[in-house]
Amino acid sequence: MAIASTTSTVTVNPAFLKEIKDVNQDLWQIVAELGEVANNPYLVRSRRYQFVGMLEDLRDHLALHFALEEAYGYFDEPLRVDPRLCERAKELRSQHRELYLVACDLIDHAMQLHDGQNIRALARQVVAEYAEFRAQLQQHEQDENALIQEEWDEDIGVGD
Ligand SMILES: [Fe+2]
Repeated sequence: MAIASTTSTVTVNPAFLKEIKDVNQDLWQIVAELGEVANNPYLVRSRRYQFVGMLEDLRDHLALHFALEEAYGYFDEPLRVDPRLCERAKELRSQHRELYLVACDLIDHAMQLHDGQNIRALARQVVAEYAEFRAQLQQHEQDENALIQEEWDEDIGVGD
């Protein structure tokens, strides 16, 4: 996975970032399929091997999605950047690594379901952790889409 650099200014390329989101439907298909299991402790327990496999699939697609966004959707040292949008772009790009690590932790915890100890409590914990992760990912996507829109508005001079 790409490691974001620590340059002073960052912005997004709204057209590329939007296109990456539009074409990466596999990721959202995996999220939708996971949702059918991940919000139900009974299903998490009874389908634990399948569940871990789905989480690993999610992690791998997330890594690809974030790497593409960072390679083509964000760029450093633009000629001109609104400082407010720059700070948000930096924050959003840094969330990729955080979200990826949360997905890795989720897999570690879900794999403990294979041990067969405290499985009911562990399944409830994993369901709660997945719900939290899902909310963070959704918020990240909403914020990136809002930034795309604002960069577009900035380019065409809305509000000038
Ligand atoms: Fe992103």
